[in-house]
Amino acid sequence: MTKKTLAFASGSEHKRKEMQMLLSPFGYEVVTPKTLGIKFQPEETETTFLGNSFIKSKELFRLTGLPSFADDSGISVDALGGEPGVSSARFGGPGLSDKERALYLLTKLGNNSNRNAHYSCVVTYVDAHHNLSFEGTVNGQITTDYDEVGPYGFGYDPIFYYSEFGKRFSQVPEEEKNKVSHRKKAMELFLKWFHMIQ
Ligand code: IMP
Repeated sequence: MTKKTLAFASGSEHKRKEMQMLLSPFGYEVVTPKTLGIKFQPEETETTFLGNSFIKSKELFRLTGLPSFADDSGISVDALGGEPGVSSARFGGPGLSDKERALYLLTKLGNNSNRNAHYSCVVTYVDAHHNLSFEGTVNGQITTDYDEVGPYGFGYDPIFYYSEFGKRFSQVPEEEKNKVSHRKKAMELFLKWFHMIQ
């Protein structure tokens, strides 16, 4: 059987491998702009995860002609009116580390008693016949301090408490987090649909 190819609009090799594992059962090889050797830096100018995810998947489809998918994700904090949202990766300004961004969020939230927050992920898929989106979310609370010891996760995980596990995401191994994460939920919906059109 010849391998079919699916293009994934991400610069992260870690994410490509994760997607490859999910799509191998369908007989697909997952390629990225990097593995294809093409320059890919679309500006994410939209104000929603959906809009920015489509900017990436549509641009990759335009460039490669391959069925293309993208994800866009971030954390939204209720008491901050949904901030940082689509700005999660650059919250607090350029040049900050993940830890500095999380500490910035803690400072902004101060001692506000409403700590509700959620991670969102929107996966979009584009080919010659389809333009589709799939969303996953996971609810939690922003803690009052930064977890210095939890060895897992990235980004805002050291300040994201998930009550169902009674732990922060920084204290949950990747396999456990992947059972409930926003990215996993969005990918599950995408794969369910993708399975149907094969
Ligand atoms: P991207 O969609 O992979 O570019 O992620 C956007 C940003 O959202 C990341 O840089 C993180 O700051 C944040 N983010 C998204 N998903 C997670 C997560 O699962 N844990 C922690 N931070 C996340």
